[in-house]
Amino acid sequence: MLNISRPRRNRKTDAIRRLVRETHLGPGDLIAPLFVKEGTNLREEIKTMPGVYRFSVDELVKECRELYALGIPCVSLFPAIEEKLKDTRASEAYNPNGLYQRAIKEVKNAIPDLMVMTDVALDPYSSDGHDGLVDQKTGEVLNDVTLEVLAKMSIVQAKSGADIIGPSDMMDGRIGYIRDALDEENLINVTIMSYAAKYASAFYGPFRDALGSAPKKGDKKTYQMDYANVREALREAYLDESEGADILMIKPGLPYLDVIKTLRDNTTLPIAAYNVSGEYAMVKAAAAMGMLDEEKAMIEMLWAFKRAGSDMILTYFAKDAARVLNNHK
Ligand code: PBG
Repeated sequence: MLNISRPRRNRKTDAIRRLVRETHLGPGDLIAPLFVKEGTNLREEIKTMPGVYRFSVDELVKECRELYALGIPCVSLFPAIEEKLKDTRASEAYNPNGLYQRAIKEVKNAIPDLMVMTDVALDPYSSDGHDGLVDQKTGEVLNDVTLEVLAKMSIVQAKSGADIIGPSDMMDGRIGYIRDALDEENLINVTIMSYAAKYASAFYGPFRDALGSAPKKGDKKTYQMDYANVREALREAYLDESEGADILMIKPGLPYLDVIKTLRDNTTLPIAAYNVSGEYAMVKAAAAMGMLDEEKAMIEMLWAFKRAGSDMILTYFAKDAARVLNNHK
């Protein structure tokens, strides 16, 4: 008999594999991003994201009921705004009766226990397609004047019933500015999940198709982070934490597992990962071509986020993954 160490003993049956499992994944870890557009009775499939739709508000509510029944605790809403409502000041962003605010109210009325998370950035409403206001002469994305718009937006969203405000704009000082603005309105229980480390990424392509929100000129590199950097992510995370963020998000997800791990090891705050549109599209495209098993690849990928240290995952796979996870306990 060879005298060797036998780690395979702990892998010999499904039962023991379940016992020695170090991390867990369930529907309760998932946040479903959903797109909403004006109209009724609409479910428009997004070409670059098969299986993902732009919903009119009535259909959005139906979808949210299904997600909640599957055990998903939170949805994150994104609006497809009509071109005619976009302007250089992104004024539709804080219209209390705008599409986005109506969507939040309807979902909260229908399913009060489902958390609604919002997106705080100007790109869906801006005729420039940038997350901040743009100096019309120089093209510069302006920081401090943008903060005011972000704060107005956050207040309107919170007053419509949003549980979690998600600033995704990467302007400096925004978390503190928004926290103060919410507190002044006595919206003290509204959670802020900051997109703390958000990289300038090619993996947002399908999302920009979904919303028609691509920048009209230039790119987002003066505010979103350079993918060569990880210490800078820590700096952003510390700032957001000190300014009052409740949860820190890393985005994109899959190519940035090291950033998730670094933040996990350096903060006590909960960590979220955003498994973004391009990551979803890659799996869908490969599966459609018969190159990999979609269900297995999806679950393995979501598990990687847990192993890296995420507490929760925003993913377009939320509904499919919840179904699979509910079936195989
Ligand atoms: C915009 C925003 C983006 C995403 C979430 N909020 C795109 C961008 O920054 O251009 C991307 C999400 C995805 O790709 O799934 N503030």
